This record gives sequence, structure tokens and C-alpha cells, in this order.
Amino acid sequence: MLIFSQKMIKYMEYLPITVQLEYKACLIVGGGDVALRKLKHLQKAGASVTLVAKQFSEEILEYCQNSTIAVHLIKSAYEAKFLAGQFLVVAATNNYQVNKQVSNDATEQRIWVNVVDDLENSTFIMPAVVDRSPLLVAISTSGVSPVLARKIKEKLEWILPDNLSILLNRLKDYRPKLKKKYHSFKDKRSFNEWYIDKSFSGELTQINDFESAIKYFETDYLAKGKVYLIGAGPGDPELLTVKALKILQKADVVLHDALISEGVMALIRKDASLVNVGKRAKGHSKKQEEINELLIEYGKQNLTVARLKGGDPFIYGRGGEELEVLVENQIDFEVVPGITAASGCASYAGIPLTHREYSQTVMFITAHCKNSEDSLNWPSIARQNQTVVVYMGLLRNHILSEQMIKYGRDPDTSVAIVENGTSPSQRVAVGRLCQLSELVEQYQITSPSLIIIGEVVQLAEKLAWYQSSLFLNENNQEPRYLLKEAV
Ligand SMILES: C[S@@+](CC[C@H](N)C(=O)[O-])C[C@H]1O[C@@H](n2cnc3c(N)ncnc32)[C@H](O)[C@@H]1O
Repeated sequence: MLIFSQKMIKYMEYLPITVQLEYKACLIVGGGDVALRKLKHLQKAGASVTLVAKQFSEEILEYCQNSTIAVHLIKSAYEAKFLAGQFLVVAATNNYQVNKQVSNDATEQRIWVNVVDDLENSTFIMPAVVDRSPLLVAISTSGVSPVLARKIKEKLEWILPDNLSILLNRLKDYRPKLKKKYHSFKDKRSFNEWYIDKSFSGELTQINDFESAIKYFETDYLAKGKVYLIGAGPGDPELLTVKALKILQKADVVLHDALISEGVMALIRKDASLVNVGKRAKGHSKKQEEINELLIEYGKQNLTVARLKGGDPFIYGRGGEELEVLVENQIDFEVVPGITAASGCASYAGIPLTHREYSQTVMFITAHCKNSEDSLNWPSIARQNQTVVVYMGLLRNHILSEQMIKYGRDPDTSVAIVENGTSPSQRVAVGRLCQLSELVEQYQITSPSLIIIGEVVQLAEKLAWYQSSLFLNENNQEPRYLLKEAV
């Protein structure tokens, strides 16, 4: 997915707008194939079309004879007087001078003009259109490549189901009824979202009338809210799953952790209520009990609640505990997995967590306090030929390396610390297990950081791809990629 910021695009060359042309007077200057094509196009929108040309092709005459909508044909050379009362004009002759004259006259009279295949003399251009009326998809390349626009149109024609017009006509029919039925904007919007989702998944084939749809909606959706436990991934917003994105764009409330990246936060529906459960006064995070209470409070309302956590909610995320609370309170939920820091950071640092030659096992551990260290099975963690990924291990890194070496892991085993993994400020420091603390100090590594221990780390130098231009850049004042040994 591409995210454009305001800074990247200053303005659009053209503003796509849709114009109501029913019964509006439109003029086409020209009498050949192109004029006929434009005539058909304008007639589709219900325009009242006049054609002016010295000669009309057989095809145009035949078409006009059989057309159920009247077309006004004027057999004459073009004159400016024909512009009087016209809403817009299309110049479609094969004579540049005539087209130019039409353009000049129209511009002078402030009538919109399109000169076929001539951007310079046009004040509007016509996009390629995928027509699923009332749904219209207009594709414009700002006149750069009509062929590309047509190719994209072909693809969209294929993707967009034919019955979209049935769906839209139903939504149009339901609109006034919905207005009477529900007064709150939220209920109306929820119905529309629910109805569209269900129609796309083919679950409404038996339901053809408004009353049955409302009945189904109220039992299926409205009576209860739902909590979605969502993994936001390690930082890069493009690592969010499609499912997570869809939910974030319809959520009423988002309870999010402190460390969710700005890029992911920017994808949340603009009018959703945001509750930062990672922060409390004076920088302390909310207690788990408080978060649970909020989940119950919101979950019991008729709301779409997103509980957004970094990485994957089931990996050192207390996601399981929060779900148990929801079960106890009979609140519906779904879980949307996310890319955990181990996968994200390893991939972006070029470290395959397993490798046929170096490591057959991978183990995730956490070591953030004395309790968690005491309960760890150090002999199994220190086994050879396995990769150990340590979450929240930064503060007590010295105990980690001491214990692993004490229980038999080679002190020269490679380690990497990935700081702010997958984000533009990612840094990777590489060294040996016995140097772990030196690495942290030397590079002043800060949280969030992930420690990866094992022979696979040796591959980082060869496989680094993310920000690789900064790789081993000794002269860079502030190197982001610190892939070198601590001395
Ligand atoms: C409370 S745990 C949550 C883990 C999360 N549920 C997951 O699946 O990634 C937080 C720890 O994950 C690691 N972490 C999360 N995101 C990270 C990132 N972008 N770069 C490095 N480490 C990260 C750090 O060790 C951090 O202290």
C-alpha cells in the first residue's frame, strides 16, 4: 500500500468531478467516428446533444435514425453562434484549426471544452469509466496515457462484480427508510457497513427487502458489540494485515498501547475515539486491571472496539489474559494476529531465524525482571544450534549473557540487537554473546530492542537489505546501521 503525504503531492493536475448532464445541452463539433463515440458517451449521461459538421458519416446518420433519444444534427461549417446556450462542448474534427477555434470561442464564453487528443486546448478531459451505475469509477492519467487508463479500466471491469449496481440501488432505496428507522448517525453507518460486508460475502442472497435486512442486522450485529484483539506488527505500517486495516477503518473505539507506530495510528478511522492505555499520568502505564475494566465497559456497549497491541497480541502481549476477561463477561471477540517483533526485526535485519546449516530451533524468551529469569530453563536456552530471541531483554542483558555462557553456550556466539526494528530509525548492532553489555553501552541502545542470539546472526552482513546503503558506513556521523563488532 502506498501512503502519500501532503508534502509529496502538492496538488492534483485535474480534479475529478462527476457532472449531472441529464437534459443539458451539449455540443459536438465533428461528423466522423470520434464524434460518434463522444455522442454515445454523452447520451449515456442523458445529455441533449447537438452535432455540427459539414458532413456526417453514414454511421452517425444510421445511429441517429435508430436512437431513441433525439439528436440534433446541424449540417454546416462550425460557427461561434452554435455555442450559445451550451453547457459543454467537444471538438472532434480532424482539422486542428477548427478545433482550436472551437476551444478559443468556448473558453472566451466560459464554456467547458474538450478537444479530442489535445490537452493544451482542453479545459476538461474525459476519464475512462467503469460503469456500475450508480457506482462510477473514473480513471484519469491527467491526459498522459489514455492507453494506461483503458488498461486499468479493463482490470477494474474484471474485479468489480456486475451486481454492484443492484447493491447500490438497494442502498439508495433503503436510505430514506434508514433515516426514519434510526436517528443516530452511528446506527445508520453501522447498518450500511454491515449490509455491504454481508452482500460482498454473499450472505444476503435470501434477503431482498428492507424489513428483513433490518431484522437480521439487529439480531446479528446491533444487539451486541464486539472486541477485536489486533496485532499492529512491529512498526512499519505496511506490515499490518489487511484484516486489521479493515477493522481499524470501521472501529468506533481503539484502545491502543503506547508503542504503536505513527504510521499505523494514521490508518485508524478519523472519527474513532482513541484511548491510549499505554499511558497514564506521569508516564506510568495503566494497570492491566484498568485496561480490563475499559474493555468490559466498551465491549458491553454496541460498539466496534479495537484493542490494538504491538506485534502479535499472543506473544508477550497479555492478549490471552484480556480475552479471558471478555469470555467471563460474555463479550464477543475476534483475534487478528500481527507480525511479532521477532519476525519483523529479524527479516528487516537480514537474519533468518532458522537455517539448515546453523539453527534448527528457534526459541522466544523474555527476561525483563528477576522473576522471569528465575523461571527460565537456562540449560535448554543455552543449547547449541538454536536461535534465541529475547523480548524485553535490554535492561538485564548482562544476566542473559552470563547465564547462557554459564549453561554452556559458546561465548563467541553471534548476537544482534535490533533497535526500533522495521522503522526508518532501525539500528542493528552485531557482536558476540560475551560482548552483549558492551554493545548496548557502546551504541547506547534504547527500547524497544530485540536481542537475537545464534549463529544465524552471522548472515546479517550478507543479507542486510533494509537501509543497506548505510550498512557499515564508517564516515557517517550518525550511522543507523551499526553492523560491526564491539571492540
Ligand atoms: C511487551 S513486548 C510485546 C511484544 C509484541 N507483542 C510482539 O509480538 O512483538 C515488547 C517488546 O517487544 C520487542 N519489540 C517490539 N517491537 C519492537 C521493535 N519494533 N523493535 C525491536 N523490538 C521490538 C521489544 O523487546 C519490546 O521490549
